[in-house]
Amino acid sequence: MRTPSEWARAEFGFEADARQREVLDTEARRVLLCCSRQWGKSTVTALRALHFAEHHPGSTTLCVTPTQRQSGLFLEKVQRYVKGPVVRDAREAASVKLANGSSIIGLPGQEGTIRGFDDVGFLILDEAALIQDCVYTATRPMRVLSDGLLWMISTPHGQSGFFHVAWHDEEGGWTRFKVSAAECERFRPEVLAVERVALGERMYAQEYLCEFLPSDLQMIPAQLVEGAVTDDEEPLDEAAL
Ligand SMILES: Nc1ncnc2c1ncn2[C@@H]1O[C@H](COP(=O)(O)OP(=O)(O)O)[C@@H](O)[C@H]1O
Ligand SMILES: [Mg+2]
Repeated sequence: MRTPSEWARAEFGFEADARQREVLDTEARRVLLCCSRQWGKSTVTALRALHFAEHHPGSTTLCVTPTQRQSGLFLEKVQRYVKGPVVRDAREAASVKLANGSSIIGLPGQEGTIRGFDDVGFLILDEAALIQDCVYTATRPMRVLSDGLLWMISTPHGQSGFFHVAWHDEEGGWTRFKVSAAECERFRPEVLAVERVALGERMYAQEYLCEFLPSDLQMIPAQLVEGAVTDDEEPLDEAAL
């Protein structure tokens, strides 16, 4: 059987770069993709979502993004590769229903409005660092019965939130991919040099070099807090206080 990257090249002429091939073809069930702006996170994930939907008849793929607009943009990337007329899933406007009964649905991640879906075969959180924790908590179980795929893809944004936690969680069973703009040949070095000056070192490091930086409002960087935690001391005995 063709790998997803072979399928994408043969069907759509999409030439994934070496790192994109690794991501497209991973068999990991829980994936973290921490990459520069404009690397192709959404494009690669949209292709993998369509590959999944085509190869799992009747399946549901859910892509949650921070806003309705971003859900629409993700679905546009999927629709670009759908052959023939695009049919929507009746349940959501930003959606595609394939002839084999599979659906790919885009949802905005807003507290209180996220609707429930059963038996999600593939859950994607796009721009995960900007999605609220409560949305992660609400959607993650929707794929638990079938141990559906879970991909969280983002550029970092500060040192809090579930994406930051998952990236640093050794026991979460995650397979991680990290690609900075400097490692990707679609970014011209002279253009990146201009971006660096325009954004300043801090924001350039976050947006293009994928660094989890403390936000301006954060008084103490996470590393300092983590470094101050020790197992050498006995916990305080509250009763003795
Ligand atoms: N392998 C590739 N070949 C050509 N263009 C690509 C490739 N990967 C990504 N792109 C283009 O790069 C741009 C950014 O892609 P996008 O998926 O929106 O990035 P991200 O979600 O990481 O910000 C899009 O115009 C996309 O078509
Ligand atoms: Mg994107």
